[in-house]
Amino acid sequence: MRRNDSLRLPGEKKKVTKISYKESHKYQGKGAEYEAYYQNKAWQRFLWSREQEIILRILEKYFTGRDIHLLDFACGTGRITEFLENRVKTSTGIDVSGSMLAIAREKLKRAEIIETDITVENVLKPRKFNLITAFRFFLNAEPELRSAAIGALAELLEEDGYFVFNNHQNSGSLWIKLRYARHRKKNPEGTFNVMSLDQMKKLAEETGLEIEEIYPAGFFHPPKVPVSYRLNRAIDWAAGKFNFLNRFSESPIAVCRRKKIPGCDTFTAKK
Ligand SMILES: C[S@@+](CC[C@H](N)C(=O)[O-])C[C@H]1O[C@@H](n2cnc3c(N)ncnc32)[C@H](O)[C@@H]1O
Repeated sequence: MRRNDSLRLPGEKKKVTKISYKESHKYQGKGAEYEAYYQNKAWQRFLWSREQEIILRILEKYFTGRDIHLLDFACGTGRITEFLENRVKTSTGIDVSGSMLAIAREKLKRAEIIETDITVENVLKPRKFNLITAFRFFLNAEPELRSAAIGALAELLEEDGYFVFNNHQNSGSLWIKLRYARHRKKNPEGTFNVMSLDQMKKLAEETGLEIEEIYPAGFFHPPKVPVSYRLNRAIDWAAGKFNFLNRFSESPIAVCRRKKIPGCDTFTAKK
């Protein structure tokens, strides 16, 4: 809830009440707003096309010849679930927002959709999934929510399964650095989350997972300058050839698995 600024006394600092990210997508109309955002913004459309390509590469590399049992965590309006539902054997999308899920329910044909918060009660246990995805969630979740979510998800991941998550504001990206600096100057009390590749690695390790591979997405995003889709694709294609450039991409995607115990064929996960 926001307090009306006109009620502030002269010299009184603006009070910023932090609410959990869990609450951010629950209001009526948010689902429709989110859908429009993805359809109307050129950069988002470009990134989404890159994400789809990368997801297909991940399926080919890690799941060829295997049935896939998908859990799409924080599935929202079903963007990722919808893309995958006909490519997997079973699909389950979960989210805490009824408003986002209402749109997902209209779009999804086969997927099971559950409104639940597994960070409070892991109702999916003892089921296991060999592919768990979480897109556009971890960056904005506060630290406690990040830890609770990855902990709950690790419990649902098959021994030989993969957990795929993204970070859509990588602090190593030049454009994110610029936007962050501008935001700090113009709105120092506001929130502008960034996350580094190192933080992604630590997040995975918190719960006995490790990053197997990073797929970079989105290299050239100068603020307020329209860049053609084709140019963006060409730049991503060229930059993607060099692993050392991963840390400069705006929206890297990490593929994680259970950490291997050295000298042993089995895997481990912290409970
Ligand atoms: C930016 S949306 C991302 C939706 C979708 N993954 C995508 O990439 O389009 C973030 C979603 O996280 C959901 N969320 C927040 N906290 C959650 C929690 N504890 N469990 C499940 N979903 C949660 C929000 O309701 C929201 O739908």
